[in-house]
Amino acid sequence: MFMNNDLANEIRAKVDIVDIIGERIPLVARGKNLFGVCPFHDDSNPSMCVSREKQIYTCFSCHATGNVFTFLMNYEHIDFKTALKQLGDKVGINTSGIHIEKKVSKYDKLYDAYNFSVKYFQNNLSSPVGKKAKEYLKKRGIDDNVIKEFEIGLSLESRDDLTKLLTSKNYDLATLNRIGLSSDDHDIYIDRIMFPLYDVSGQTVGFSGRIYKDVDMNKYLNTKETEIFKKGEMLYHYHIARDECRSKNSVIVMEGFMDVIRASTIGIRNTVALMGTALTKEQISLLKRLSPNIILCLDGDDPGVHATLSIGETLLKEGLEPKVIPLPNPEDPDSYIIKNGKDKFIGLLENALNFSDFKINKLKESVNFRSDEETSNYINKVIEEASKLTDPIRIEVILKRLAKEFDIGYNTLEMRLNALNTKKEVKQVADITIPHKKSSNKDKYIKAMEQVIYFMFYNDFAITQVEREHLVFPTEAMRSLTSEIIYYYNKYGSVNIADFYTYIQDKENILTLYNEIIAGDYLEKTTKDELFLYFKVIREYGRKQEINRLTNLMKKEVDPLEQAKIVERIRKLRLGE
Ligand code: CTP
Ligand code: MN
Repeated sequence: MFMNNDLANEIRAKVDIVDIIGERIPLVARGKNLFGVCPFHDDSNPSMCVSREKQIYTCFSCHATGNVFTFLMNYEHIDFKTALKQLGDKVGINTSGIHIEKKVSKYDKLYDAYNFSVKYFQNNLSSPVGKKAKEYLKKRGIDDNVIKEFEIGLSLESRDDLTKLLTSKNYDLATLNRIGLSSDDHDIYIDRIMFPLYDVSGQTVGFSGRIYKDVDMNKYLNTKETEIFKKGEMLYHYHIARDECRSKNSVIVMEGFMDVIRASTIGIRNTVALMGTALTKEQISLLKRLSPNIILCLDGDDPGVHATLSIGETLLKEGLEPKVIPLPNPEDPDSYIIKNGKDKFIGLLENALNFSDFKINKLKESVNFRSDEETSNYINKVIEEASKLTDPIRIEVILKRLAKEFDIGYNTLEMRLNALNTKKEVKQVADITIPHKKSSNKDKYIKAMEQVIYFMFYNDFAITQVEREHLVFPTEAMRSLTSEIIYYYNKYGSVNIADFYTYIQDKENILTLYNEIIAGDYLEKTTKDELFLYFKVIREYGRKQEINRLTNLMKKEVDPLEQAKIVERIRKLRLGE
């Protein structure tokens, strides 16, 4: 429970949810609401409705709903306090003094095991056994500041030291095995330099251990996929890059965490690392949130170029043309910076190529221009690249360059371009149909109950009537939600739906139900007479349930006298119908 709901409400009232969401995803106005593509599930239709009047958003498709705080928290993967601060700063309200209890997560115990392991590995590195590892790091230009910043540590040669320590702290082996800290009764990481891997909120959820002696083993050993370590859903350094990318207005994507670490030593921190995976949908959506200006700076070797081409193409399809920093083969950002220094790297950064130019350069490298066939193939491919772009000026520049280089009429090239374009289906904004709330296939009783709860948000008398009539809801979640509404109403004198989100954001038992009802297809306003019709349906449900219960009871009853009593009770209930 938060101590400062009032402050949160004050901040919420001063910002407009339409501005905050609109700064992050394009919104189109339709009637009194605005619509955009929901960032919380995989979609390309504008299923998310943002209401200026209610100051909430609702996705008709995935049922994500919330107020401006929940949007920021979910969109940027930040906690409530950070969201509050971000918006507080915007409207000039100081939030530094407020106290917010940390949200409890069902993974807390697992996180603690990881936090403990990070400290343990750090201690090893700074103790005498860490001498060799320190020397290795020093040779690579990683000093104590960097070791501290990235919480680098060392696992020991002993094969079960960490496992023993954790089991003495009441972790069972099954759990340690499951989350990738132990294998059977021994440690996973033996004598490796340990790099913590963080999830999007900055919690350590895995490790990458690197060999540092001349041994014939895999260079890196990574934590396996676990319930908290999902490689495809994270980007290394995301939680730090989040603020840096906003101020730098770009995000630099690298292959390895060593590259990110190296870049930080020259003050470049708007970086994330993929860590040897193909780019997933989730990672694209994370990148989008950091900045629309994505700069690919992968390794300069063949696999790196190949990955640049394939990732670039994927991003282009998402409407995000990245820039590319091509490194000389076989350098990676780490080795390039070590060899050439800060200024040279910043020079490359400032001269980053547009992806299409990078691709055209790469295409060119393999063409034999003495062959007419290869030349015209090349020209066609360049036009095809141009046709993927949306900026008409860029397209014209590319075609003019081609015309000049190969002495071909500009019109000829343009005709080819137009032929390609007409083949493509262009999705016009005006053609996009706004989806409607789908009415669900819940039975009439559940619908009536949810409708009554919905009425409670927009009709004060619905709250007082539910309270006065002692209306009983059948599920625990419904009972909790209605009693929270009643409590909130009695305390604040009204229920503002957007502020109510702040109030219940940690009450997980009712949050799902609340979201479902808010996203449901229900009426807002009602009259007392109508309301009582709904009450009647709900009571009928209660009676039905009671009759079912009694019928079952009767089947089990052996005493005929008791049976008769039950029959009588059922009869009375039936009469009430
Ligand atoms: N990787 C891995 N397992 C390997 C090699 C690489 O998991 N055997 C992952 C690591 O997450 C690494 C990324 O792929 O960060 C990039 O690999 P690579 O370019 O080989 O690593 P470098 O950053 O160059 O590491 P180093 O400079 O320490 O050799
Ligand atoms: Mn390297």
